[in-house]
Amino acid sequence: MSAEKIMSLDLGSRRASAVARGVSTATPIVAARAANAEVWDVDGRRYIDFAGGIGVLATGHRHPRVLAAVREQIDHFTHTAFQVMAYEPYVRLAERLNALAPFSGPARTVLLTTGAEAVENAVKMARVATGRSAVIAFTGAFHGRTQLTMSLTGKVNPYKRASTSGANEVFRIPFPVAHRNIGVRQTLAALESLFYADIEPSEVAAMIVEPVQGEGGFHVAPPQLLQAMRATCTKHGIVLIADEIQSGFARTGRMFAIEHAGVEPDLVTVAKSLAGGFPLSGVIGRASIVDSVEPGGLGGTYGGSPVGCAAALAVLDVIEEEGLLERAEIVGAAIRARLARIARLENAIPIANIRGLGAMIGFDVVKNGVTREPDGALAKAVAAKALERGLVILTCGTYGETLRILVPLTIQDGLLEQGLDMLEQALTLSHTGL
Ligand SMILES: Cc1ncc(COP(=O)(O)O)c(C=O)c1O
Repeated sequence: MSAEKIMSLDLGSRRASAVARGVSTATPIVAARAANAEVWDVDGRRYIDFAGGIGVLATGHRHPRVLAAVREQIDHFTHTAFQVMAYEPYVRLAERLNALAPFSGPARTVLLTTGAEAVENAVKMARVATGRSAVIAFTGAFHGRTQLTMSLTGKVNPYKRASTSGANEVFRIPFPVAHRNIGVRQTLAALESLFYADIEPSEVAAMIVEPVQGEGGFHVAPPQLLQAMRATCTKHGIVLIADEIQSGFARTGRMFAIEHAGVEPDLVTVAKSLAGGFPLSGVIGRASIVDSVEPGGLGGTYGGSPVGCAAALAVLDVIEEEGLLERAEIVGAAIRARLARIARLENAIPIANIRGLGAMIGFDVVKNGVTREPDGALAKAVAAKALERGLVILTCGTYGETLRILVPLTIQDGLLEQGLDMLEQALTLSHTGL
């Protein structure tokens, strides 16, 4: 047995006795190094990465521009706490994000560390600005694992199981999913009923929506839904929060997914691909709402780390200079074409409901092509088969039935095709092999 193999086995048992059981890992891979869309494990095996650290790597692993910016920053300083000593990269990044904000009028940005923290802060701003406390979220939503964001998250298993006390004042309406026969009309009827039965609109601080649901199954919010939400929020003085943590930064072919619907949110939460692999998040919002919070009410020791800011500034350059908005459409078209072909193969596992925007694409593994009943166990088995072939791909969705593609937009064409070959093999091999 190779020394590396022993190391990876050893790490497994050390991990089991040292790391909290609640932190799960989707694959048994022990990573050793990575570049763009490829990862090598400690045994030297190469994988093509269609997970991108859960949508963090639109610009790929260790983009040279990002690494150069980070190196330069760490040669100067790594931390002061922005609340103690300010630094220019934070301000420059806030200026750039404000200029990119998908709404008109003056914008302000606060920088934080994790996605959940960004959502927490967005809700706080909405509550302070409106003087109200209720928040409306969707079924299938994922906004994080902290107390408040877990409560906003619309999926019990595994995020809320046995966590008995959620945050107060969170209300939920169904997210429209055409193939489950839930249309925008039903969602809006549920909202009306909520306003009638449970909470007056005048007591609602915010409505929060993922323009493309991530964990919930890559369901795209129909433009009519977002438009109706905008109208409702404007009518009742409710803050509209777009959670772009997974869908932002070129993934869907626009800087922010909500731009596809032509709807202007009031607050936008950002994280993941913002900083190309470094922990950084933020809230970009209308100045009047963001600035309703008194000095000292926002921030955190590590919020807007100078290293993260340097990385994010480089990521924004890369998105612009490498044309990643256009690239997302090209990558997305290649993925869609391949999936459409696989869907027609006679010997393949039945797949259905290919959906998404740009390169943010998901599809369901189903029991058969007629009833299209979701099959989470089979989707998991397909992901495992893909991994055997050398492809890292994640599942998501209510029943775990959705395979989702979050490949770096910078992936080389040949590598993308190789990855899609592996996916195709997994979908055909597993049919005979399972
Ligand atoms: C849409 C969305 N919001 C919030 C979060 C939470 O982000 P984090 O895991 O960084 O707390 C995620 C993470 O997957 C997400 O996809």
